[in-house]
Amino acid sequence: MCGIIGFVGREEAAPVLLDGLERMEYRGYDSAGIAVRSETKGLQVRKCKGRLKVLAERTCGGRDLKGTLGIGHTRWATHGEPNDLNAHPHVSENGRIALVHNGIIENYLELKEHLIRQGVQFTSETDSEVVAQLLEFHYRECGNMLEAVGRVLRRIEGSYALGIICADYPNALIAARKDSPLIIGCGETGNFVASDATAIIRYTRDVIYMEDGQIAVLTADSVDLFDDEMLPLEARHSTVDWDVSAAEKGGYAHFMFKEIMEQPEAVAKTVSPRIREGRVVLDDVHFTAEYARGISRIFLIACGSSYHVGQVSKYNWERLLRRPVQVELASEFRYSDPLVDEKSLVVVISQSGETLDTMAAMREAKRRGARTLAVVNVVGSSIAREADDVLYTWAGPEIAVATTKAYSTQLVLMDLIGLYLAELLGTVTGEEYDAIVSAVLSLPEQMRRILEHVQDVQYFASHYFHHDSVFFIGRNLDYAMGLEGSLKLKEISYIHSEAYASGELKHGTISLIEPGTLVVALSTYGALFDKAMSNVVEVKARGAEVLAVTTGRFSEKMEKTADAVLVVPETHPVLQPSLGVVPLQLFAYYVALQRGCDIDKPRNLAKSVTVE
Ligand code: AGP
Repeated sequence: MCGIIGFVGREEAAPVLLDGLERMEYRGYDSAGIAVRSETKGLQVRKCKGRLKVLAERTCGGRDLKGTLGIGHTRWATHGEPNDLNAHPHVSENGRIALVHNGIIENYLELKEHLIRQGVQFTSETDSEVVAQLLEFHYRECGNMLEAVGRVLRRIEGSYALGIICADYPNALIAARKDSPLIIGCGETGNFVASDATAIIRYTRDVIYMEDGQIAVLTADSVDLFDDEMLPLEARHSTVDWDVSAAEKGGYAHFMFKEIMEQPEAVAKTVSPRIREGRVVLDDVHFTAEYARGISRIFLIACGSSYHVGQVSKYNWERLLRRPVQVELASEFRYSDPLVDEKSLVVVISQSGETLDTMAAMREAKRRGARTLAVVNVVGSSIAREADDVLYTWAGPEIAVATTKAYSTQLVLMDLIGLYLAELLGTVTGEEYDAIVSAVLSLPEQMRRILEHVQDVQYFASHYFHHDSVFFIGRNLDYAMGLEGSLKLKEISYIHSEAYASGELKHGTISLIEPGTLVVALSTYGALFDKAMSNVVEVKARGAEVLAVTTGRFSEKMEKTADAVLVVPETHPVLQPSLGVVPLQLFAYYVALQRGCDIDKPRNLAKSVTVE
């Protein structure tokens, strides 16, 4: 996902821009660039393919570019391959307007053809450059930069977060957003725009979350906000409450390991404010019993690991609510003419709150009359702001591309929501309710106990890291949990793996099991342990090497058959996946470590996918 930063103030802009881009490296990128307005040389642009250190070398750490107004960008390619020309900032033909963009301009080709017919020369293959050239076209027409921005925004279709500077406006930084996040930071030495607070938190915690359709004009000492009709708006300030260290490694080798280790605290932060005197209290979400009884179908919609949270929650919610729960991939849902109506409750799950597929699916559900509840980790994110209701996971900033603590906090928050709805529907007994609440409150300590023995997982990873294909098998909740274990391994170690319902193996896929095949057998769901056990025997009979994950009660029996056993504490079945997933996260981490992979920034991946 691209990262944007802009600065206008009373100190040199270039070093501030480079520092901010560096703090957004985690978002994933393939090229970077900055543009600074100089008193004597107009707009100076430096941009290149590759890591930020290449850009820093080309600008002597920013010292080569003098000026107190500038913009910067890290690009994750969507239109046009990663190279110097396609890198941002993009500049208008005569060099007086520079722009950085995050998002996709869906009608860029027709606009580009129009401009080419007007004689405009393009230098890149990107959709973003079209916006820069169109700005110049309208600026030349009307002579006023803000008016030109308004005209351009009325013509482009798609998603954008824009940072714009113009050589004719030495003190103004213009920003606009639609469907791509953009925040304004109000600092001592000047004002900022950025894709997220990580880029500017060392300068200021005083931020303004821009809304869709808004335009901002920043100077060193002022921020003016306008709506899409250029009417002035009152800026609503917020304070970023997490500290810089939370967005830094804190002594760990990788953000991913740090975030695995932070899970007990993240889960505790997410649940404890929501359990008061033994009752689940859900912030400012006010479902009534009458509303709950009127729900005909529940949809859980997400992507990736958040989708896997939905898979686990389906089993738990259907058991608790006795209502049909449908889990949908957001990218499929939005084009499936879904059977959604005003009696549907649609829960969208997203760590970043910016995943375009999930955002689009939510909009489609709203359009069809559904009530939407967002479970999101990033405060003020687009999905959070557009949903009818939002419940935040309080995992703190998650930097590693491969999610862990956000997944775990989503999982437990979904358990709480399910319990809350079950109580409204009267489908859960008081005894079951209390047992689940008690189990939730014990979860952080039980996670800590697992994390005290990471070396056990490290040991097995050192035995198995050379495999090039791995199966994760399980039944019911174990199968749903296995989906996440498999994705973790794939995305950071690049080993092909798949999660399979173990009862389904015999219907074809077991033909792939041969001597030496690694099978991670998940058997923490006690009610089906015997079935899981027989599936272990089944794959062992074909020569598989089995690493089992089970609970203490079953470890002795499992040790008689599996080649290796990892044991996790036992808890209420609803919560069991929250514990079983931790060794799977660690296994993926240690295997990737053994294989020398770029654990925090895996190839081809981005932390949040804000494109289709
Ligand atoms: C998970 O490790 C991946 N990074 C990815 O699957 C992610 O879960 C997915 O892109 C959804 O992101 P979101 O939760 O921010 O919407």
